[in-house]
Amino acid sequence: MSRVVNVNLEARAYAIHIGTGCLAALPDLLPAASAALVVTDTNVEAHYGPGVVRGLEQAGWAVARCVVPAGEGSKTLDGAQTIYRAALEAGLDRRSVIVALGGGMVGDLAGFAAATFLRGVRLVQVPTSLLAMVDSSVGGKTAVNLPQGKNLVGVFYQPAVVVADLRTLDTLPEREYVSGLAEVVKYGVIWDADLFALLETRAADVLAREPALLQEVIGRCCEIKAEIVAVDERESGVRAILNFGHTLGHAVETVAGYGHWLHGEAVALGMAYAARVSIRERGFPERDAERVLALLRRLGLPVELEGPAGKLSWDRVRRAMAADKKAHRSRPTFVLAEHMGSVVFGCDVSEDGLRETFDTVRAT
Ligand code: GLY
Repeated sequence: MSRVVNVNLEARAYAIHIGTGCLAALPDLLPAASAALVVTDTNVEAHYGPGVVRGLEQAGWAVARCVVPAGEGSKTLDGAQTIYRAALEAGLDRRSVIVALGGGMVGDLAGFAAATFLRGVRLVQVPTSLLAMVDSSVGGKTAVNLPQGKNLVGVFYQPAVVVADLRTLDTLPEREYVSGLAEVVKYGVIWDADLFALLETRAADVLAREPALLQEVIGRCCEIKAEIVAVDERESGVRAILNFGHTLGHAVETVAGYGHWLHGEAVALGMAYAARVSIRERGFPERDAERVLALLRRLGLPVELEGPAGKLSWDRVRRAMAADKKAHRSRPTFVLAEHMGSVVFGCDVSEDGLRETFDTVRAT
């Protein structure tokens, strides 16, 4: 049975369906329309594309598909252009829907295309990675990358519905699954100490992808994100707490080169860093910071820069933090923890504090 989480955004409200096998119900969950463009990537297409298209066709939909190459390289204005072309060839009109079937890259790209094609056609998010289920498919952030940086062009555009079938996680490679767990841990630290404790006691079952537990955990993450987005859709305040671990994480991704660390791995490093900064800046208990590091390690996530990337120079990382789109006048701002389940955003940290803590996450 599916769990349903509602995102309460008045005229833009929508439901997130989370369950094992709920992809089969997709035609019934879609908003009323007759034509759909299913956007996916070459990896996801191989597993789920034909089934989704067949299901929709059997339910009487006219379905076209657009398959982009897997990988961040597709998340560009050219990638969006590919979708516009497919939408035009398929004769999509403003009553049609775009179905984003895939992980974060597909969701962001297809979301951007849906938001802009004909000034907006309805978007259905069908996340197939853990990261997309707990984070990127919910909350309406869509974007493409520019050569100068990630997600530099985008719009807030809420989906009409999100359908997360837990069965699609069966085919997710281990490293990507574990990477998605970083965002799950994040919700425990920023909002829900009970969720954090559950992850600690059931870490082995989480790693084994135990379906009932996954439904509970993913559902809880979506509830938290829905609650935050409902009060601050456009990130003018509290939504910023979702960036816990992302200030250093994004900088490390940029400096190490995209592809070296998966996003969640970089966020894990960033959370380990932020937890340590939080001890000195916000009185976060050392015992709780240790719990954050221990849980990340237990889940197989990095908390220290190791190997060749461990030699990342502080100057380059610091420069990348200054260039982050959330920095203010080149000063990076941080989300810091005060106690487990509670954080503050917009924190300025002294240069010494930033530098000295960086040395603790850098391999020597
Ligand atoms: N991924 C952070 C947010 O949706 O605000």
